[in-house]
Amino acid sequence: MSVRREDLPADFVIGTATAAYQVEGATREDGRGESIWDAFARVPGAIADGSTGDVADDHYHRLHEDIELMASLGVDAYRFSISWPRIQPDGTGPLNPAGLAFYRELALALVAKGITPYATLYHWDLPQTLQDRGGWLNRDTADRFAAYARMTVAGLGDVVQHWITLNEPWCSSFLSYAGGEHAPGLQVGTDAARAAHHLLLAHGKAVPLMRAAAPDAVVGITLNLYSVVPASEDPADVDAARRIDGLSNRFFLDPVLRGEYPADVLDDLGQRDWFAEHAGAEDLAAVSAPIDFLGVNYYSRHTTRAGVATSGRSPHPGSESVEMVDTGAPRTHMGWEVHPDGLVDVLRMVEARSPGLPTYITENGAAYEDAVGPDGVVHDEDRRAYLEQHLVACADAVREGLPLRGYFIWTLLDNFEWAWGYSRRFGIVHVDYATQRRTPKDSGRWLAGFLGGTLGADRG
Ligand code: FCB
Repeated sequence: MSVRREDLPADFVIGTATAAYQVEGATREDGRGESIWDAFARVPGAIADGSTGDVADDHYHRLHEDIELMASLGVDAYRFSISWPRIQPDGTGPLNPAGLAFYRELALALVAKGITPYATLYHWDLPQTLQDRGGWLNRDTADRFAAYARMTVAGLGDVVQHWITLNEPWCSSFLSYAGGEHAPGLQVGTDAARAAHHLLLAHGKAVPLMRAAAPDAVVGITLNLYSVVPASEDPADVDAARRIDGLSNRFFLDPVLRGEYPADVLDDLGQRDWFAEHAGAEDLAAVSAPIDFLGVNYYSRHTTRAGVATSGRSPHPGSESVEMVDTGAPRTHMGWEVHPDGLVDVLRMVEARSPGLPTYITENGAAYEDAVGPDGVVHDEDRRAYLEQHLVACADAVREGLPLRGYFIWTLLDNFEWAWGYSRRFGIVHVDYATQRRTPKDSGRWLAGFLGGTLGADRG
């Protein structure tokens, strides 16, 4: 199955995505403060290969080279994230002019190349000073975020029009505060749901302030949604699917799009009383502030079965007994099953709640074990096929009438893949970390061919 540009609407946006801590490096330059990922990466055993984001792709110093690369790929847009501690080192107080200047330079250079900037305000690098005060378990962090968002949009809103408040609040709450796999590496069990509420409140409080700061701002939030299906019709397996769909999808979609938390999930979590007291109507009105689009990160599907409760750490607190079934579908180097049709499933979830709300796939991509071959090229046919299959799914979604407006590939460059360090490569451009040499992989060249970029033309 193949796809051509003409299979998607002419104004369909195709871009690449990255996140600050994964690519920038320069963690101690120009007044940047410490983030929770700087601290977490130093914890022995936290990162698979013992690495940190201190240098990463050195994108902070190579932004023009990297933008040149994107221009040669022919992308329409670039989704990057702003490092909160680079802009506001302590998470409070005035902005750091040098930090702001870096993102202004980046955005202006993109615009000069005809590439539309999409900026994410929070892709997980909370200022450590705020973590010292409880991080996302502290409600005050929501107000700190809203103030940071307002000032950042005021400072860059003349160049950047498209804004994403949060990236994947499921990861910054359940994975980070229950699973302990991401910074700050806590395991507070079902109380992680409170961190989720404070994140969503941060989003909701920020939205009107961002609009006031830049009336033309186009504002959304990015959720990581999963296609979830039961392994069988056995009621126990069906209930397992309800639980995982609840924790991963509905717990975020429902408050943002409908102004309510799903009662069954609050019960699974044993958090009904806390939410009744601390997440009332006023909060939910804020959380469900009208947005211009919903960003969806889609990677995989979960097939669920009722199993035996495990006592180890779990990013699914209260539902530890659910097991994920191996369906035999191909897997990426992350172990994630490849299910392109799940991309349409998750867009339907959004449409069911907010008919007509524009969506973007703000991340989709795959890690595979690739290396530069003797011919100087990276033959990553598996990644190329993954991307193509998911673009086919995008075309299917559009044909079905779903308001999908764009697709961002995760990711431009191989980079610091969080708890996996540099041991997982998602890039369509290979990075040799010793030399910082960038080598477009076959997937990148294929994309350039698809988009009509110059990089596609220089190869037969
Ligand atoms: C997502 C993250 C992104 C990247 C991909 C593989 O959950 O948003 O930064 O790590 O997964």
